[in-house]
Amino acid sequence: MSEESPDDALAAAGYLDVPDDQGGRAARGWWDANAQEYLDEHGAFLGPADLLWCPEGLRESDAHLLGDVRGARVLELGAGAAQGTRWLRTQAGADGVATDVSAGMLAAARRLDAQTGTRTPLVQADARALPFASASFDVAFTAFGALPFVPDAARVHAEVARVLRPGGRWVFSVTHPVRWAFPDDPGEGGLTATRSYFDRRPYVEQAADGRVLYAEYHRTLADHVGDVVGAGLVVDGLLEPEWPAGHHRVWGGWGPVRGARLPGTLIVRAHRPPA
Ligand SMILES: C[S@@+](CC[C@H](N)C(=O)[O-])C[C@H]1O[C@@H](n2cnc3c(N)ncnc32)[C@H](O)[C@@H]1O
Repeated sequence: MSEESPDDALAAAGYLDVPDDQGGRAARGWWDANAQEYLDEHGAFLGPADLLWCPEGLRESDAHLLGDVRGARVLELGAGAAQGTRWLRTQAGADGVATDVSAGMLAAARRLDAQTGTRTPLVQADARALPFASASFDVAFTAFGALPFVPDAARVHAEVARVLRPGGRWVFSVTHPVRWAFPDDPGEGGLTATRSYFDRRPYVEQAADGRVLYAEYHRTLADHVGDVVGAGLVVDGLLEPEWPAGHHRVWGGWGPVRGARLPGTLIVRAHRPPA
């Protein structure tokens, strides 16, 4: 895991264009440095072995978005501490592999394996360049992994299309695009649109010397669907999970106040056309 140096202190944040190579590279260092803090905050809700799709609390055990995965080769991108793959392997009978660009997140996955007595196959990989043979997976998925942190998400979809066998399924969740028009505030302050939905500049955090420490990219709904279709995949459906009654947990800008009025998560289901 990389150590945060004083030079990495946050000096500026906002929506601005930065060079794609810097923005796309930032995630690895940021997630290395913040892996433990992220899991301290969200680990209990995620569970050590569970596939949570979104802060609304939708879990694969109820949603069945991946279909029947018994015996299937399943690839997780941007897996973090691999809770989803761990659940798929131990409780759904899948042959799952978890990948992530951050060694810090994969180290956390190994610690969870030790705690739970499991052994999850872990591979460090950028989702834009997957180290797997073509047509080697039946299913690919990510819950808020990889896609938001790269300027060139089309490359992720192209890699998914390559490693999926014909007929294979691809499911991913991301921040709902409409949220980008609103302040990232879970309360009343997050209910008034202050930015253009069509402004694609990423949210960026920078060090004092201008280095990009964190970059998160916005795509409109049409951008997401266009990326999937552009990779030769077929969209099967879009989901906008509603905020459940009685669910009070706040996660960043997600919570019951905004959940009552605005969608927070977009889930896309797609597949590679049969040969
Ligand atoms: C919000 S976490 C999601 C992880 C997990 N699904 C969860 O809910 O905790 C985002 C993950 O995406 C990973 N990530 C960011 N950019 C990536 C890239 N280019 N390729 C692969 N993983 C990436 C990060 O390292 C991080 O573990």
